[in-house]
Amino acid sequence: MTVTVKNAEGKDKLIIFDTTLRDGEQSPGVTLTVNEKIEIAKQLSRLGVDVLEAGFPVASQGDFDAVQRIANEVGPLMVGREAIGKPMIIAGLARAVPADIKRCYDAISRAPQRRIHTFLATSDIHLQFKLKISREQCVQQAVAAVKFARTLVDDVEFSPEDAGRSDQDFLCEVLSAVIEAGATTLNIPDTVGYNMPEEYGAMIKYLVANTKGSDKVIWSAHCHNDLGLATANTLSGILNGIRQVEVTINGIGERAGNTAMEEVVMAIHTHPSYFPVYHTINTPQFCRISQMVSSLSGMAVQANKAIVGVNAFLHESGIHQDGVLKNKTTYEIIAPETVGANTVNLVLGKHSGRAAFRSRLAALGYGDLTDEEFQLAFAKFKALADSKKRVTEQDLIALLTDQVTTGANENATYVIKTLQVVSGTSFATATVQLQNTKTEEVLIDAAIGKSGPIEAVFLAIQRLVGKRIRLLKFDITAVGEGVDALGQVSVKVAEDDSTGSESDEAKQQDENDNAFNMPTFHGHGADPDIIQAATKAYLSAINRLVNASEKQEKRVLQGRKVDV
Ligand code: KIV
Ligand code: ZN
Repeated sequence: MTVTVKNAEGKDKLIIFDTTLRDGEQSPGVTLTVNEKIEIAKQLSRLGVDVLEAGFPVASQGDFDAVQRIANEVGPLMVGREAIGKPMIIAGLARAVPADIKRCYDAISRAPQRRIHTFLATSDIHLQFKLKISREQCVQQAVAAVKFARTLVDDVEFSPEDAGRSDQDFLCEVLSAVIEAGATTLNIPDTVGYNMPEEYGAMIKYLVANTKGSDKVIWSAHCHNDLGLATANTLSGILNGIRQVEVTINGIGERAGNTAMEEVVMAIHTHPSYFPVYHTINTPQFCRISQMVSSLSGMAVQANKAIVGVNAFLHESGIHQDGVLKNKTTYEIIAPETVGANTVNLVLGKHSGRAAFRSRLAALGYGDLTDEEFQLAFAKFKALADSKKRVTEQDLIALLTDQVTTGANENATYVIKTLQVVSGTSFATATVQLQNTKTEEVLIDAAIGKSGPIEAVFLAIQRLVGKRIRLLKFDITAVGEGVDALGQVSVKVAEDDSTGSESDEAKQQDENDNAFNMPTFHGHGADPDIIQAATKAYLSAINRLVNASEKQEKRVLQGRKVDV
């Protein structure tokens, strides 16, 4: 029996399971709002992702709401998926306990295609130290979880967490038992990124050969990048029976990250005869979605990142440039347009009308804006086109990402009313007026910045929100070239709970002690005026911080705290 879909050449379809919104969101410092998750989910649907892991519904009310809205609003979408012929399967993660599984079901229940993904650790290290259960109890709990999940949905995935360090014969025992209990996909996580490529491939081969009923299920790879081997391990898995890969955009994820989708897909794309699988990913969208995920998550993409880094298709040395001018294939194994790397330069100008703008937005995946959203985006585009001769696709992505972030702040506690900055040779002053949307109160204050206007604005905002804020990261980049380039700012902040009277040394010590525990929040802003871009980014990070503090208070009141 075969459970895979084959193409005309007899190759199996490789199922792309994206976990950017679940494992990716577990990256330190990444906190996406519901609106941002929905925008990313829509883009992943257009990209051709087969299964979208939308989140971990039991973790918090916010996670539940995000998964539920994605299931309801993105789950049915078919835009850009005509060739695939069906919408994405929306999956939610659940520990192998009934309460998690039920909560997961409640979140995904209205998706036309849905999956419960339940997991339980199987390595002796985890059984002994984390779960404190025996191997027998582990098998029983896994079977009970899968059976319960199957009473709710037909599509159930089981993951033996830390499989990469589990005893392989015990793994076969657990996996045979969960197949019997009704699991339809078996995912084999190298949770701590420990395996070597040949070792991971050999493990998959062994499990497929020695698990009862292995031909009735899809085998899936889930690799972490602690040794920089996530892509290599995943590809090795494919050569040994893997037919689903669990991946994230830009490889974001817990610690050193997960397997990068763009790397696995492009490896298969570039070596069609080497792999026994084919993919149905719309690869020209890779660079756009990479830029979007990077901006919204605050996780910058390294310049030399394979496939989507800004240097991935640049040729610096004279010999290389000469070769590429003579024939591109001398130094390019992938044509840049195959991953959308050169389309960012397509331009619109101030004379471009609504129709041209609308069609460019549709090409970028923003074809379903409401009329109000479209008018706002068009007004922003016109304002930008007035100050900038050529508006590139990159500018539009930055503008729209900014709009999503601003939109995400519909439930923001603070919004900017006015901003006035005076700067000179030795210091700057900023007067900021904010509105508290919850109390309707309008607040105004001013501050002096010794190092310039951005410091002055940030200090004034801190006073207005009544919090001491540590600025952990401040990145400013120009989108495109020239003095009229759009400024894009990304910040990371944390609440400073020191008393303020400590010495600098004590403060530094505190900072070091807290570095691993401190919740951090990122913000993103884009504007032709860099002070405004910085203000937007800072306020959006503070709004996340304020929202998280409120959520945390509620969670503590409910006595609930969940870790994966
Ligand atoms: O890395 C891991 O083990 C996971 C599981 C929950 C699948 O993310
Ligand atoms: Zn993981």
